[in-house]
Amino acid sequence: MGLCFGSLAHESDPTATSSPPTTPATSSSKTMGSSATSSSTGKSLFSDGTIGSVDESYPNGKILEMPNLKEFSLSDLKTATKNFKTGSLLGEGGFGKVFKGWMDEMTLTPSKFGTGMEVAIKKLSSESMQGFQEWQSEVNFLGRLSHPNLVKLLGYCWEEKELLLVYEYMQNGSLENHLFRTENPNIESLSWDIRLKIAIGAARGLAFLHTSDKKVIYRDFKASNILLDGNYNAKISDFGLAKLGPSGGDTHVTTRIMGTYGYAAPEYIATGHLYVKSDVYGFGVVLLEILTGLRALDTKRPGGQQNLVEWHKPSLSNRRKLKTIMDTRMEGQYSSKAVLQAAELTLKCLESDPKDRPSMKEVVAALERIEAIKAKPKENKTNSTAASRPPPYSSTFSLSCSTPRC
Ligand SMILES: Nc1ncnc2c1ncn2[C@@H]1O[C@H](COP(=O)(O)OP(=O)(O)OP(=O)(O)O)[C@@H](O)[C@H]1O
Ligand SMILES: [Mg+2]
Repeated sequence: MGLCFGSLAHESDPTATSSPPTTPATSSSKTMGSSATSSSTGKSLFSDGTIGSVDESYPNGKILEMPNLKEFSLSDLKTATKNFKTGSLLGEGGFGKVFKGWMDEMTLTPSKFGTGMEVAIKKLSSESMQGFQEWQSEVNFLGRLSHPNLVKLLGYCWEEKELLLVYEYMQNGSLENHLFRTENPNIESLSWDIRLKIAIGAARGLAFLHTSDKKVIYRDFKASNILLDGNYNAKISDFGLAKLGPSGGDTHVTTRIMGTYGYAAPEYIATGHLYVKSDVYGFGVVLLEILTGLRALDTKRPGGQQNLVEWHKPSLSNRRKLKTIMDTRMEGQYSSKAVLQAAELTLKCLESDPKDRPSMKEVVAALERIEAIKAKPKENKTNSTAASRPPPYSSTFSLSCSTPRC
């Protein structure tokens, strides 16, 4: 995880000011946000009475008129998780703990632990800096958005002070776990092909959000919010910070500055102006993490190396240096042409001026072209001697990106 910034005040008040903390304390990366806690009055705002199902998918994506979600009782969810027992804990983020539960696939009725369909249940922690607003945003955005590369929200629970969310279960957890949690022997390292597949899936998810009628700006793109199913199909999760994009000719919306250290675009940190292209910057940071296997922000690294973009962006435009920053766990799996193009794309996404960044549709197309480049078996050998050759590659992109001040 990384470290996130935010404020405790009401995010949607654009006149309010906030500044992020100047120094992150650790290398973890949870999103922090507003913290209003709800009462349990006035529920059922989000359900039209029909039940969400994991099978119901729209290959090209769709925005539903109404969230199609099941309202669960707390006792339902206790049954599904064996009373939130520790053994069913999948992970923990800024909102709270995430548990594995079991339900009937058709009716979403809680079933005996170990029978039926697995689901993931996120439970708001009393210590969380997040709260009703993030929960509501998740229900309103994710409950209405349907796309193969967005995680499916099945339902919610709002009872007393308890706020919970029920999602489709993503068997391979988060991209963050696979890239960085290398101490766990059950997590195998990701190959070049799988990393590209994940990048393409996540890019398609973002492209759908940006090109949909409502132009959704996701605002919290990072490795921990990219979840992976059993076949490593990537799905974006966590819409707690999502915003509707600009309307009426405006190019940006102004918001309180919220997001995650290391991933947020420089213009957003500096001005609070949020563009669709601010998400493209976050995507560039994740691409850099995918290439290098290093976290966007890690305060355990020596000074000057803690911010991955500041540290490694200059190497992306230099063929020789590029080879030295690539994740060694992928050695011999990629062609140098593919890696050069991936580095070039990463640089474009990390441009300091949002206008110079590609659209997510362009990013998808570029990644698909890279995927089509197959590594020749011979090339593995070439890779190992490449460092001795002069660098024939020079970038046409600016390297004078203003660095995110986190
Ligand atoms: N639908 C899901 N299926 C399987 N595992 C999940 C699911 N959702 C979350 N998880 C697991 O729970 C962990 C915590 O997720 P969560 O989104 O709460 O926190 P995070 O993304 O790590 O941090 P942040 O609060 O900044 O979003 C994830 O890393 C993942 O391992
Ligand atoms: Mg998350």
